[in-house]
Amino acid sequence: MAALAGSIWRRSTPGCKVLILVFGKTGQVATELQRSVDVLALGRDQADLSDPFACVQAIRALAPRAVINAAAYTAVDQAEEDEGLATIINGDAPTAIAQACAEMQIPLVHISTDYVFEGLGEAPWKPGDTTAPQNAYGRSKLAGEEGILGSEAVQPLNYVPFFNRVSGTGGLMFRAWWGRM
Ligand SMILES: NC(=O)c1ccc[n+]([C@@H]2O[C@H](COP(=O)([O-])OP(=O)(O)OC[C@H]3O[C@@H](n4cnc5c(N)ncnc54)[C@H](OP(=O)(O)O)[C@@H]3O)[C@@H](O)[C@H]2O)c1
Repeated sequence: MAALAGSIWRRSTPGCKVLILVFGKTGQVATELQRSVDVLALGRDQADLSDPFACVQAIRALAPRAVINAAAYTAVDQAEEDEGLATIINGDAPTAIAQACAEMQIPLVHISTDYVFEGLGEAPWKPGDTTAPQNAYGRSKLAGEEGILGSEAVQPLNYVPFFNRVSGTGGLMFRAWWGRM
């Protein structure tokens, strides 16, 4: 992720207010990004993903060169009782963010999860594999992917990386599969 963010940063041009805008400030991925790359990270108090339009407004106001969505409803067990909210945060908000990025013609990095797959087998998942989420968290994350990839927001620079584990001890990602769209 840091390498990808760095390559986006290098492609940035002068004159913009913010180079890379990150949604999420306190999470594992957001923390590593802030440690590795020069980004502006917005916490929940600045952009709450339960209000997707607030995220759109932040993108429009800050006019970044790229956006990384590192915020998500990640409480897998709690999502079973809270699927509506999880779907707004993991589904509606990323969709709105992608549309705002498309409107501003900037790339979006969004992080998926192996929970969108059925979870059987030994082989690493590939971006084109059939999705079959087995729980509310997986369904909410898949809603976000479908919202991003299935809309007019899709551009060549949109990525949906698939992680099954993130470790934050200096390196950022392990066993990641990148789907370049
Ligand atoms: N960690 C992994 O092993 C792993 C594996 C696969 C995929 N992923 C994906 O990677 C991304 C980042 O995961 P992570 O591990 O960094 O998650 P995390 O450590 O659980 O952090 C989640 C982040 O999302 C923020 N957030 C939650 N609800 C929010 C809301 N309504 N508005 C704004 N911010 C909100 C949290 O802020 P607060 O502190 O305010 O709650 C926190 O900063 C997610 O898309 C996740 O699905 C992670």
